Amino acid sequence: MLVYLIIIVVAYLLGNISTSYIVAKRLAGVDIRTQGSGNAGSTNVLRTMGKKAGALTFGGDVLKGVVAVGFARILAYYMKSDQVTCAYIAVVAVVIGHNWPAFLGFKGGKGVATSLGSMLAINPVLALTCLAAFIIIVLVSKYVSLGSVLGICLSPVLMLITHNTKGIWVTLFLSASVIYTHRANIKRLLNGTERKLGEKK
Ligand code: G3P
Repeated sequence: MLVYLIIIVVAYLLGNISTSYIVAKRLAGVDIRTQGSGNAGSTNVLRTMGKKAGALTFGGDVLKGVVAVGFARILAYYMKSDQVTCAYIAVVAVVIGHNWPAFLGFKGGKGVATSLGSMLAINPVLALTCLAAFIIIVLVSKYVSLGSVLGICLSPVLMLITHNTKGIWVTLFLSASVIYTHRANIKRLLNGTERKLGEKK
């Protein structure tokens, strides 16, 4: 259907707008993917460029998730399509666009902030619960990657508890994609070499 196609294209392109890439280029003239962990994400910007730049990146990546879902809902309304289905299609497309951006040679970020933003626009209680879990895990362990993986994996469990079938599939996708993009972090967590929050190397 045309409405789905438009949402996929627009959300994917929105995902391609890499806040970390733009912030690092503007502030330091560098490609963030050549710095720190090499990830185009807010943790790596925080690590290499400081708190303000990290917060800006996080905000931008969350925002594009919100905008993608908002756009999908508005389009669904005007094209008389199912808003929930359209919103979930936007979630998948914007995260794929963020993680594998065609305009950046398919080397993007790990999709945590963008997943959060898109889910905030769909189910704020669920998204904020996952965010709270993330914050607690990071504060206790000092591992952002551990908080990211466990925080996102909480989302399908919450969908299951609330009997939201469509939501389970989408949050399973988000969890699988975050586990996949964090595969190197998970290996380092298991062998004790993962960077802690605040560690540069
Ligand atoms: O969301 C990214 C974070 O979980 C890990 O980032 O740069 O430490 O690989 P990084």
